[in-house]
Amino acid sequence: MTLDEAKNQCRRPEPSQNEVRQMFNRISRRYDLLNRVLSLGVDISWRRKMARFLPSRDDQHVLDIATGTADQILALFEQTDKVSSGIGMDLAEKMLEIGRKKIERRGFSEVISLKVGDVTEIPADNEAFDAVTISFGIRNVTNVGKGLEEMYRVLKPGGRVLILEFSLPWSRLVRGAHLFYLRHILPRVGTWGSGDPHAYRYLNETIETFPYGEAFCNLLRVAGFTAVEAHPLTFGVATIYQGDRPMKSGTARASRRAWI
Ligand SMILES: C[S@@+](CC[C@H](N)C(=O)[O-])C[C@H]1O[C@@H](n2cnc3c(N)ncnc32)[C@H](O)[C@@H]1O
Repeated sequence: MTLDEAKNQCRRPEPSQNEVRQMFNRISRRYDLLNRVLSLGVDISWRRKMARFLPSRDDQHVLDIATGTADQILALFEQTDKVSSGIGMDLAEKMLEIGRKKIERRGFSEVISLKVGDVTEIPADNEAFDAVTISFGIRNVTNVGKGLEEMYRVLKPGGRVLILEFSLPWSRLVRGAHLFYLRHILPRVGTWGSGDPHAYRYLNETIETFPYGEAFCNLLRVAGFTAVEAHPLTFGVATIYQGDRPMKSGTARASRRAWI
C-alpha cells in the first residue's frame, strides 16, 4: 500500500485545518469539563496508561502533539520518572493558554513548554525526540499520512510513537450500546455543555469513520514504523497504538526545521 492509498483509507467528513483550530479555540473553556463528563472520568486512566508504553530509556525528551490543555503531557510526567523534558504542540492557542496555567499550577513550568504548531509541518529538527505522543488528536488531523511521516522524522532512531485514539468495541453488544451513546447522547450533552452544536456532532462522526485496529496499524507501517502494536482499552472504546522508528533507519525523508 502506498502512502496515498493509506491516506485515502482515512476519507471522512473533513473540516479544514483552520476550521479545526477555530472549533477548539471556541470550546477550549469547557473542554476539560466535557471530557470528564462524557467519558465518566475514564479518559484520565487512559492517558495515564500511555506512560507504561514509553521506551525503557531514562532522561527522555518527549513531544506531545495536539496537546490541547496539556492533560497527556502532564500525565506522562506524573506517572513516570523516565521523562525529563517535554514540548506540547497544538494548533489552537486558546487550548494552550489553559494548558500553560495547569502546568504552572502543578509545578512543571521548568520542564514542559507549550508551542503553537501543526503536526503536518512540525517545527522541530530531525531525530529530536525519544518519544512522540498524541492523544485524541490524530482523528482531527486533515492529512494523517503526512502527520505520521512528520512524527517519524522528529523521532530519534529507536524512538517510539504512542497514539491514543477512540476506536469501536469488538463485542457486538457493547458496540451497539456505544454507537447509541455516540449518536444520540454525546452530541446532545456536548452541545449543551459547550454551546457549540457542530463540535460534538463532528466528534461522533470522526470516531465512527476513522480507521482503527489493524487498519490504523497499517497506516503506521506505511509511514515506516516497526514493532507496531495495538492495545485496546475499556472493551475497545479507545486504543493505544505504538510503533518504533528502527535503529538503522537511514536519514529522515524531510529536511531539518529548527524550533521557532
Ligand atoms: C480532542 S483534542 C485533544 C487534546 C489533548 N491531547 C487531550 O488528550 O485532551 C484535539 C486537539 O488536536 C488539535 N489539532 C488538530 N489538528 C491539529 C494539527 N494539524 N496539528 C496540531 N494540533 C492539532 C486541536 O487543536 C485540539 O486541541
